[in-house]
Amino acid sequence: MEQVRFYRTGGPEVLQVEEAPVPEPGPGEVLIQHEAIGLNFIDTYHRSGLYPVPLPAVPGLEGAGVIKKVGEGVENLQPGDRVAYGAGPLGAYAQWRTMPASRVARLPDAIDCETAAAMMLKGLTAWYLLRETFRIRPGDVLLFLPAAGGVGLIAGQWAKALGAVTIGACSSGKVEKAKAHGYDHVIAYDREDLAERVAEITDGRGVDVVYDGVGAATFESALSCLKRRGLMVSFGNASGPVTGVNLGLLAEKGSLYVTRPVLMDYVAEDADLARASAELFEMVASGRVRISIDQRYPLSEAAQAHADLEARRTTGQTILLP
Ligand SMILES: NC(=O)c1ccc[n+]([C@@H]2O[C@H](COP(=O)([O-])OP(=O)(O)OC[C@H]3O[C@@H](n4cnc5c(N)ncnc54)[C@H](OP(=O)(O)O)[C@@H]3O)[C@@H](O)[C@H]2O)c1
Repeated sequence: MEQVRFYRTGGPEVLQVEEAPVPEPGPGEVLIQHEAIGLNFIDTYHRSGLYPVPLPAVPGLEGAGVIKKVGEGVENLQPGDRVAYGAGPLGAYAQWRTMPASRVARLPDAIDCETAAAMMLKGLTAWYLLRETFRIRPGDVLLFLPAAGGVGLIAGQWAKALGAVTIGACSSGKVEKAKAHGYDHVIAYDREDLAERVAEITDGRGVDVVYDGVGAATFESALSCLKRRGLMVSFGNASGPVTGVNLGLLAEKGSLYVTRPVLMDYVAEDADLARASAELFEMVASGRVRISIDQRYPLSEAAQAHADLEARRTTGQTILLP
């Protein structure tokens, strides 16, 4: 089978396409033949070394396909089942892979494998951000950035379905995309001043919560968008990690709260992963969240997919096809 592996950290060019034997499922594992693999910004952090992983490594935390074999002791799944996963472990950039049975979810008929591979990691992220980190209630006002990316388009629709007032921010060429996916107001942060526009939209009140996946480039201006005692959820590093936070800023801007969450801490327990997956499936199967697969690449072109994601050339979800 074909897989993509990197032996040293670096740019997209370190991703190598190679042949490997189809693995055997061990006890408690299933063997999956992938129909599609999800591309995520975190894959670029693993490849670049921002988030260190043991080398060599097959990247990828998200995929969907059909179970071909089950290992000893697996009782709840069987060959022929269509399944998906979005919380690792690493190893998705391959035609076939094994997975712990407890970390995959059986797909409902309404969700095809390409959609599932595109939505699991990003949808589980939207779930915990909106349902756990800050529990959105009707009327809450939120700012989400980047709004037109993989997580952003799912979060906009989900937040709208929960009754929030949704403000998104993204680069100017992607504004219409964000507006079509749940955002009431969209700020082009490459042309407009984020805090000024949020003040206008909220009549000077500020937002209840900011979800910021852009990181270094927007952290301070996003803090200025919060209401007094509002919550900053800094969940990503697309422009680089946020470092050296001056706590005095939180006082100055109104006794703010800050958290730096990661998906794995919200779905570490199998029961939480199953609960989150069920809610996500319900949102997508009911049509309240539409998955926008805007880019498809052959698995062998994973390096190009990484380059496009890092150069901000993508919108919505991206999948790799084995
Ligand atoms: N903590 C967690 O649990 C968790 C889980 C999943 C994802 N994330 C984070 O969520 C963010 C979004 O992830 P995603 O996979 O859905 O990616 P994505 O949003 O599809 O792509 C990243 C987007 O970030 C924006 N961006 C702003 N400055 C950038 C820069 N200097 N370089 C590259 N991109 C820049 C771009 O949109 P514009 O052109 O509109 O600026 C780009 O399209 C990432 O930071 C990721 O690490 C965190």
